[in-house]
Amino acid sequence: MRGLESLPGPPVRPPVGHLQDWALAPLPLVEEGARRARLAGRDLFHLRLGLPAVVGFSPAWNRRLLGDLGTFRSAGSFSRVVPHLAGGVILTDAPGHAPRRRAVNPGFGKAHLEELRVRIRAALPPIPAGDFDALAWADGVVLRLLNVAYFSGEFDSRLLHAFLAPLRQPFPLAVLPRPRLFRRVNAELRCLAERRLRGGGDDLLAHLAPLPGGLEETRVSLAAAHDTTTHALAWSIWHVAANPAWHAPEHHPAVLKETLRLYPPGWMGSRRLAHDVTWNGVRLPRGTLALYSPYLSGRDPELWAAPQELRPERWQTPPPAWAYLPFGAGERVCLGMHLARFLILEVLAALPPLGAVSGDPRPQPGITLGPVGPLVVRRGA
Ligand code: HEM
Repeated sequence: MRGLESLPGPPVRPPVGHLQDWALAPLPLVEEGARRARLAGRDLFHLRLGLPAVVGFSPAWNRRLLGDLGTFRSAGSFSRVVPHLAGGVILTDAPGHAPRRRAVNPGFGKAHLEELRVRIRAALPPIPAGDFDALAWADGVVLRLLNVAYFSGEFDSRLLHAFLAPLRQPFPLAVLPRPRLFRRVNAELRCLAERRLRGGGDDLLAHLAPLPGGLEETRVSLAAAHDTTTHALAWSIWHVAANPAWHAPEHHPAVLKETLRLYPPGWMGSRRLAHDVTWNGVRLPRGTLALYSPYLSGRDPELWAAPQELRPERWQTPPPAWAYLPFGAGERVCLGMHLARFLILEVLAALPPLGAVSGDPRPQPGITLGPVGPLVVRRGA
């Protein structure tokens, strides 16, 4: 049985291994790792990140990692080190995870979102006149719509902005503990939750407040919601603006699917191995950091024709199973998948015809993958 070191990997820089490239330019690093793995007939490559780490991208690997919650654990994953994300369902492992998800799911289900539709539409801000940066605009729109969906618009919008802003800062600022900020957010959440516990309501907080740990679920899911949805919306606006043939709402679901295939905001998911795993003749020891990548799987030339091209028409036929994972899959599939799609499609449907003016849509990884930006579009072009 071979060890994990026998796996291919991108070039190493002694003595730091892959740490420097991981911090400064992770996309070329993992693309090179995947290229070398494919050449070696493998679906897994090795990274030296200060602890044993492997990245896989085949449907078989995705299925195993996302399906076997007992072995592939969230405790010890990357989310553990991001204070905004370290809690709630995100860090709960089996067997506690399934009941917790069952409790929080209904608020985020399609039926409840349908009840919010009229309020979400009414809260859509006006589309700016002339040229505007779709990335900056999407940022504010998503903040406002999340405030409406979660809190009927009652959360102090400046505090909400301040709470979410660190997630966009570069490492290590993004992962610094912020006890004072969290205390203020928790106090605001408690105050709004008490009103719902006394007087009902039907926003997301009204669903979450009565649950054990419901305020933590609210805070953590908000943190998971904002940048992911903003980036997916901004890229979608950009692509619709650049392709006037896709302006009509019937094209938007396929444009969004393609946007998320090429630019998945959750570009890399992580787990830790609870015990040794044998994968295609290689022994992966307990404690290994095991990664899957919606970005690499979504661009794999063995899974997609012309993977680098944005082709909404490819969605006329279903993709290979376990190849398309912008929202993850299995029991831990994104809690906000329907909410994100719902908000993005509502905003796209409200846009007048746009033209793309200038911008840099290349993906840039941080806690989430976002466009380098700006993405300047023009109304009425
Ligand atoms: C386009 C927008 C979004 C994208 C691309 C996205 C992506 C993802 C991905 C890939 C995962 C799985 C992570 C893993 O396997 O480690 C995930 C999980 C999660 N997402 Fe999202 N997400 C989006 C929006 C949202 C929204 C709006 C919410 C608000 C509720 C949210 C809340 C969560 C939570 C709580 C989890 C953890 C679920 C669990 O472990 O049971 N996300 N998301």
